[in-house]
Amino acid sequence: DDNAAAGASTARLVVVSNRVPVPTGTGHKAAGGLAVALEAALKSHGGVWYGWSGRIVDGPPSPEPEQKRVGEITFAVLDLAQRDYDLYYSGFANRALWPVCHYRLDLIQIDGEDTEGYFRVNDAFATSLVPLLRPDDLVWVHDYHFLPLGKALRDRGAGNRIGFFLHIPWPPPDVASAMPAYATLLEALTAYDVLGFQTQQDAENFGRCLERDGFARHVADGIYETGGRRFLVKAFPIGIDVEAFRRTANRAVRNSVVQRFRASIGERRLVIGVDRLDYSKGIRERVDAFGCFVRSNPKVRGRVTYLQITPKSRSEVPEYRRMQEEVAEEVGSLNGSLGELDWIPVRYLNQTVNHASLAGLYRMASVGLVTPLRDGMNLVAKEFVAAQSPDDPGVLILSRFAGAAHELDGALIVNPYDIEATARAIARAYDMELEERQERWASMSARLPETDVNVWWKHFLSHLETPAAIPAGAETS
Ligand code: F6P
Repeated sequence: DDNAAAGASTARLVVVSNRVPVPTGTGHKAAGGLAVALEAALKSHGGVWYGWSGRIVDGPPSPEPEQKRVGEITFAVLDLAQRDYDLYYSGFANRALWPVCHYRLDLIQIDGEDTEGYFRVNDAFATSLVPLLRPDDLVWVHDYHFLPLGKALRDRGAGNRIGFFLHIPWPPPDVASAMPAYATLLEALTAYDVLGFQTQQDAENFGRCLERDGFARHVADGIYETGGRRFLVKAFPIGIDVEAFRRTANRAVRNSVVQRFRASIGERRLVIGVDRLDYSKGIRERVDAFGCFVRSNPKVRGRVTYLQITPKSRSEVPEYRRMQEEVAEEVGSLNGSLGELDWIPVRYLNQTVNHASLAGLYRMASVGLVTPLRDGMNLVAKEFVAAQSPDDPGVLILSRFAGAAHELDGALIVNPYDIEATARAIARAYDMELEERQERWASMSARLPETDVNVWWKHFLSHLETPAAIPAGAETS
């Protein structure tokens, strides 16, 4: 029933996100699964994808969005002035909201100018979007860059149904309330009609913030009320395009990048990790755990390669730069102390690898290491599972602090802060018999379609299209 309404309505869809995959015109852009899925949503409804152009300009940026129509979709983007980018994106979004949402109050940087810049940029995005909106458009805002955008649109007269999906975790009240402008943000969030989170835990944490601090009252079953308005708070766990990724992985055995890599490691077994260079990903702890695994299992010396693919990210943010140095040092020191003339234990790359090659590398791996200290969902975990061959599947080692751990219980679930326990999990995965690997993999693989990214957007939109109804007698007082 949940999916029945989606796609059936004639309402246009307006997606808002910080990054917008504007087609370049020189062939199809290599887009991630989420971008492809949101394009599918936009194609089926027709509509607008609105956000930042990715450009930083010297003078004041034009308040008129630059528009490009491709088939059913209009891409509409705004430039940002350097100073606004520094305050809104590098400052408030990535030095205040990101660490708080990832439970890292030790890394939070509070700066009044950042806070002010964040709200100013949200207001500017709202002002430029309003003239593009039609009265019955569905508006779907994404992620922590735009927490107050729905409220800013309402303040400018938008009466549309407006939904919000948070791609990163939402922490419990005691942690969340360390956000600068916490009360203003929470109050602004009550202007949405639907608030979607990655896991039940995140949705519950958010609900507790609303109730504890008096921003809204719980009425029934995820429905909250404030000032005579009702809105829905609900988990919509995101996933991948399962069939497309399986197909890509099946084809990837013939991929020349994958073949070259295979030749370069020879008969060695492969352990793989793929993450943006971010302190939330637990990369240092993971490198340590791999070192501990090799030290305590002498038989694997020279027989295993750990490939860690880690494109640099947000390098203008000091906490990220510091972490880049720390990981590089850790890898260098481990290779220096454990390596041999003909064996480099860790291959560490600061570059992106295209999706098709990644799929082939996942398939080749005996062990997938997905051990973030905190992660909203983590799609690498789902891609790793989808890429395996049923005949000889690899083993997933997964942090209990990734949203994906709520679903993928066939993984070896670890506490990523516990280096020795993670090392023991690597040893267990390395030696696991085929039968146990197949059982674990089959149980995870069976769950992937539940959160397929195309199911996900339809599910969200079905709730956005239909105002939350309260079943008779279900109201709590
Ligand atoms: O996971 C949150 C997120 O903002 C994603 O939406 C995005 O793809 C990723 O982090 C990359 O971050 P950025 O846009 O800051 O490079």
